[in-house]
Amino acid sequence: MKQKIIFATGNKDKMREIRMILADLDVEILSMKEAGIVLNIEENGTTFEENAVIKAKAVAKHTDAIVLADDSGLEIDYLNKEPGVYSARYMGEDTSYTIKNQNLIDRLEGVPKEQRTARFVCAIAAVLPDQEVIVKRGTIEGYIGYEPAGENGFGYDPIFYVDEYNCSTAQLPADKKNELSHRGKALRAMKEALRGKCL
Ligand code: IMP
Repeated sequence: MKQKIIFATGNKDKMREIRMILADLDVEILSMKEAGIVLNIEENGTTFEENAVIKAKAVAKHTDAIVLADDSGLEIDYLNKEPGVYSARYMGEDTSYTIKNQNLIDRLEGVPKEQRTARFVCAIAAVLPDQEVIVKRGTIEGYIGYEPAGENGFGYDPIFYVDEYNCSTAQLPADKKNELSHRGKALRAMKEALRGKCL
C-alpha cells in the first residue's frame, strides 16, 4: 500500500499547486477533506512557522499518516509587512481578492517602484508518524504592481510582479510559478528532508 501524506488545508488553489509540486513522490496525497478530517483550526500564531506547526499538529492528532501543513502570505515592505500572517483574513475572509488587491494598490498610491518591494512567504510543517516535527521556509521576492494583471494562480497573484519575467505571478503558467514560488521552494526542501527520513 502506498504511503499517505495528508495536507492540512481546505484551500483548493493551494492543493492544486501542492499536488503538482509533489507529483514525483510515490505517495498518495490527500487533502484534509479527502482524509475525512473536519476541523476548524485557529491560526493564532504570530509567525508563518508557528501557524504551520499549529495546523499540522492539530491534524496529526487524528491520523497516523505523515501530515503536512503550510502557512503562507504576502509581506509588503512599505506597509510594515502587511498583510503578512493575516493575508487570508485581510479585509475579511469573504471579501473578494479583486477588492483586496485594489485596496493594496490604493494604499501604495504614489509610491515609486523601488519602495514597492514585497515577498510571498511559505512555511511548511511536517509531523511524522513518530511525532517528529520538521519546518521549512521558502520565499519569492517581487514588487506590488500599479494594476492587477493575469488570470492564473489565486489570491494576491495578480498584483505581485517578478522582475525576472516583468509580469505578475498570475501571468505565469502554473509550472513556472511553482518553479519560482515560495510554496515550490519550501515544498521541495521538505521533500528532500522527508526522503532522508520516512519516504
Ligand atoms: P493561509 O491559508 O493562512 O496560509 O493563507 C494564505 C493566504 O496568503 C492566501 O489565502 C492568499 O491570500 C495568500 N497567498 C499565499 N500564497 C499565495 C500565492 O501563491 N499567491 C497568491 N496569494 C497567496
